[in-house]
Amino acid sequence: MVYFKSKLNIRNLLKRLIIAIDGPAASGKSTTAKLVAERLGYLHVDTGAMYRAFTLKVLQQGIDIQNTASIARLVPQTTVRLFHNSGKSSVLLDGVDVSEDIRRPKVTKAVSAVSSIAEVRALMVREQQAMGRKGGIVLEGRDIGTVVFPKADVKIFMIAEAHERARRRSKELAERGTNVSLDELEKEIVDRDKKDTSRTLSPLRQAKDAIVLDTTTLSVEEQVEFIVAKVMEKMR
Ligand code: DC
Repeated sequence: MVYFKSKLNIRNLLKRLIIAIDGPAASGKSTTAKLVAERLGYLHVDTGAMYRAFTLKVLQQGIDIQNTASIARLVPQTTVRLFHNSGKSSVLLDGVDVSEDIRRPKVTKAVSAVSSIAEVRALMVREQQAMGRKGGIVLEGRDIGTVVFPKADVKIFMIAEAHERARRRSKELAERGTNVSLDELEKEIVDRDKKDTSRTLSPLRQAKDAIVLDTTTLSVEEQVEFIVAKVMEKMR
């Protein structure tokens, strides 16, 4: 009997779950998702980075971000892949590492418009579903629990007050040598949330079965503990 029980536990521990983390801009998804994935030995997929990479290509080609038809024509000529190597993940745009370039403010300003185009979303969703098919993955974005993996094993919806999100983004940018005022950052974050929640296709919204995690006053460690505990509950 004991043998049977322990075998069951091991099988549960080996379950490769799909963890979906959604939420608005700068709510802490990336840092937390990366650490959760490390704790579980899972793959971390930053889907925002993929939309940013495609947006970078649009800008590099000098295409107007309102020109939906030209942007859609770029889709079949583009590959966006995530590459994981010794704990570091990079974004490859047509085989070139663009992990740094995609964080530039001009990409941030354009990404909501580009990511609202159907053809762009279809390309990204296909890639993301292929990466997650076997489980053992933490995906973060805006539509993971609603569209990409509506049957994900654990769904978290991360939120935080806009002012706190601006403060975090400012710190992150300063570490990269870019200084943007807090007011400007807060405005940009609120503006992007508005675009991401009001678009017709796969808007940012909380899945019915998602667990809300308000990170405003939580440390990164607390956020990670919260999610890992939910995953462990699910495995049991
Ligand atoms: O997570 P992020 O801030 O790097 O995402 C950049 C943009 O990409 C975000 O403003 C909207 C878009 N995005 C999306 O439409 N769907 C996702 N799953 C992830 C990001």
